[in-house]
Amino acid sequence: MTLEELNNQILKCEKCALCKTRVNVVPGEGSSKSNIMFIGEGPGKKEDELGRPFVGSAGKLLDKLLGLIGLERKDVYIANVVKCRPPQNRDPLPEEVDFCREWLDKQIKIIKPELMVLLGRHSMDRFLPNHKISIDHGKPKRLNGQVYYPIYHPAAALYRNGLLEDLQNDFKKIPKILEIIKEERINNKKGKEGKAEQIKLGI
Ligand code: URA
Repeated sequence: MTLEELNNQILKCEKCALCKTRVNVVPGEGSSKSNIMFIGEGPGKKEDELGRPFVGSAGKLLDKLLGLIGLERKDVYIANVVKCRPPQNRDPLPEEVDFCREWLDKQIKIIKPELMVLLGRHSMDRFLPNHKISIDHGKPKRLNGQVYYPIYHPAAALYRNGLLEDLQNDFKKIPKILEIIKEERINNKKGKEGKAEQIKLGI
């Protein structure tokens, strides 16, 4: 199945109650061939209106952060843990995350990103449970062969003083992480099964 075919299925999803309050489903967008996926929490008001991820104020910051490392939205794939807006931008409920699990897993299987950048706590919880964003942001981890990189959510950096600098510094490490992943791939390093292992950046 292609990503387009999958996203067409996602557009028709009625598995949970969010389908009753959404305006548009927001499957994700970007390059299906990218080696980086950015995973947010869920669509906000603007995203729901337009059917596109990260197009509001947090999205504008995300665009700037991508620019810091010489990337544009079209170079990466941007998706969310839940594909429909939770009313009033409340946190997604565990069952909503579970209903959407299959969609995001299938997107990842098609895109096969070398690096998954987890934007904020909800995205981190989905892939790296029992971690804490204030401690683990900026620390890439390998789990079952996949590299995850938790960082603060751009929206958090917009309303909490001091987080923006952390977010910018964490973003600037992305090229180095990709370089290490490439080296490790050449050396066939897979990491331990079932245990998140920190990747040392040496910077
Ligand atoms: N916040 C998210 O987590 N995702 C979006 O798409 C927009 C804002």
